[in-house]
Amino acid sequence: MPRRLVITRRMPEQVEARAERDFDAVLRPEDRVMSAAEITDCCANADALLPCVADRIDADLIKALPASLKIIANFGVGTDHIDLAAAAARGIAVTNTPGVLTDATADLTMLLILAASRRASEGMAEIREESWQGWGPTHLMGQGLQSTRLGILGMGRIGQATAARARAFGLEIHYHSRNQLDPEIEKGATFHATAESLAQHADVLSLHCAATVETRNMVSAALLTHLPAGALLINTARGDLVDDDALINALQDGRLGGAGLDVFKDEPNLDPRYRELQNVFLLPHLGSATVETRTAMGMLALDNLDAFFAGAVPHNLAS
Ligand code: DGY
Repeated sequence: MPRRLVITRRMPEQVEARAERDFDAVLRPEDRVMSAAEITDCCANADALLPCVADRIDADLIKALPASLKIIANFGVGTDHIDLAAAAARGIAVTNTPGVLTDATADLTMLLILAASRRASEGMAEIREESWQGWGPTHLMGQGLQSTRLGILGMGRIGQATAARARAFGLEIHYHSRNQLDPEIEKGATFHATAESLAQHADVLSLHCAATVETRNMVSAALLTHLPAGALLINTARGDLVDDDALINALQDGRLGGAGLDVFKDEPNLDPRYRELQNVFLLPHLGSATVETRTAMGMLALDNLDAFFAGAVPHNLAS
């Protein structure tokens, strides 16, 4: 008997085809976020749930899942939307998809660094609003990246892949992580023991840490005061890392030069003040959004399910 698998959202074609081949797959006809009640209804008699970052799998929802459900195979690396402790308490395994989205997310980080430093948001607005007056020697001058300092907060896989790309653009790499990395991984980057010290040495500060109770609002008003005047803030990690009031104040009063943001608190209901700011380049959580990467994420989630139901320990246990 194939296992019953509930997938909360539409997936790339190959992923849905494999899920239908190997499981009694419950696929959604429409692609929208389901309510908690809809997820629990769909999960009746299910063995597994495959959710994504847009689904809130909190303690109440986990409590309401049927006893048959033994694994949550998340489509994505971040698991901050899943109450891991509640899942563990019910004996439900949780897996994620690390590694396969590293390059896509690092690419998008570079896109944001380039867009924020070269005032792409203002340039695009001129074109769309038909306000461009033509080429001018001082028109929309941005900041060059060569010999500026990139501060990476969280030097895991995505932080390291961002560092590799940024070096090619001539940026000098600084980082803060829980631990200093081995020299062959550091590749000449400068380690900072505190986030404050990193901020003092970052013309561009890029966030690459997980959202946890400890990291919530770590980009606070206090941390932002350590950045050099005119610095840029880049976030492809999680909106929860940033105190929005503090960042918006710093962008409004010109202490920060700009920001490139792909992630927000309470997505998709981002703080509306971001839309009013000229010096921010905003994207709707597209870090991993390539066909190749989203397909690989789905395949890895299915690999984790296969391993689990074959009685093995999945490689990507998050709990
Ligand atoms: C993740 O995997 O956590 C990403 O944010 C989804 O793209």
